[in-house]
Amino acid sequence: ARVLVLAGGLSYEREVSLRSGRRVADALSRANVHAELRDVDTNLLPDLIADPPDAVVFALHGGNGEDGSLRSVLDLIGIPYVGPDADAARRAWDKPTAKALLRDAGLPTPEWIALPRETFSDLGAAKLLDRIVDKLGVPLAVKPARGGSGLGVAVVRTAEELPAAMIGCFAYGDVALVEAFAPGKDIAVGVVDTGDGPRVFPAVEIEPSGDAYDFAARYNPGASTWHVPARLAPRVSEDVAAVATAAFRTLGLRDLSRIDMMVPQAGPPLVLEAKVVPGMTETSLLPMACEAAGHDLGELMAGLVDRAIA
Ligand code: DAL
Repeated sequence: ARVLVLAGGLSYEREVSLRSGRRVADALSRANVHAELRDVDTNLLPDLIADPPDAVVFALHGGNGEDGSLRSVLDLIGIPYVGPDADAARRAWDKPTAKALLRDAGLPTPEWIALPRETFSDLGAAKLLDRIVDKLGVPLAVKPARGGSGLGVAVVRTAEELPAAMIGCFAYGDVALVEAFAPGKDIAVGVVDTGDGPRVFPAVEIEPSGDAYDFAARYNPGASTWHVPARLAPRVSEDVAAVATAAFRTLGLRDLSRIDMMVPQAGPPLVLEAKVVPGMTETSLLPMACEAAGHDLGELMAGLVDRAIA
C-alpha cells in the first residue's frame, strides 16, 4: 500500500506535527509500508485527486487535521484514512463539546466555563472573571477550547493571575476554556482498536520539572519525567483504563487515540480531553506507551492502515 502521512500545515503545532509525521513515516517504512511524508499546503487536494494514495495517516495536529474538515474531504474523494471519522474528530477537537458529551455519559470531567474572546475585551471583563472565580474557585486551568501541545495553557493559582492567563490563551484561540483545576496525577492513556474493540496501553504519568506540562516541558528532552506504567494502585489503574475506554466509545473514536486525565488522590479519574491525532514525536506519550506495551509503532500503524483500507 502507498500511504501518505499528512503533517505540517499552518497551525501553531506545525513543527511538532512535522516531527510526528517524520517518526510515523519512518516507523511505517521500517514495517515495510511505503509511506511518504506530505507537508499540507494548498496543492494537497488537487494532488490527492490526481494521484490518490491507498490511505492517509494523520500526523497533522491542530485545525484541519483534528477538526474533521480534511476528513470530510477525504470521504468525498474516497480515500480511506486511519483514525475517527469527521464527526467524531470534530467532537473531540472542541474541548467544551467533548466535555459535555463525557459528562452526560457519566464520565467525570472538571467543571468548566467557555468564554468567547468578545466577552472578555469589554469593560465587564473584571466582573465576569470574579464570577468565574466565585463559581469554580481556584486553582483554575485556562486553555484554548481548541488546540494542543499546551500552547496558551496556564494554571491560575490566585484570582489576580486570571486576566493574564486569559490574554495568553486568546493569543492561541477565540474561545477560552476555564476549568476547575483538579490537583492529582496527570495521566495519559493510549487507546487502540485494531478491530477487536478498544484496548489500552499502559498509562503514562507525567511529571513536569516546572509548574505545568507546557510546550517546553513536552518537547525538550529532560524537561519532564514520565513514568510508564503510571505509579497508580492496581484498583486505580483499572479505573483509569475503564474510563479511557469509555471516553473513546462515548466520543465515537476509532483506531487510535490518547485520553488525557487527572487522577485525584481520592475519587474517580477526571477526563480532560481526547486527542485524535496524538503527538508522535520522540518525547510524545503514545509512542512511549506503545513501546511499554511491547508493540512496535510501525507494526501498529501498518495494522491500522490495513484496517482502514479493508
Ligand atoms: N496536540 C499534540 C501533538 C498532543 O497533544 O499530543
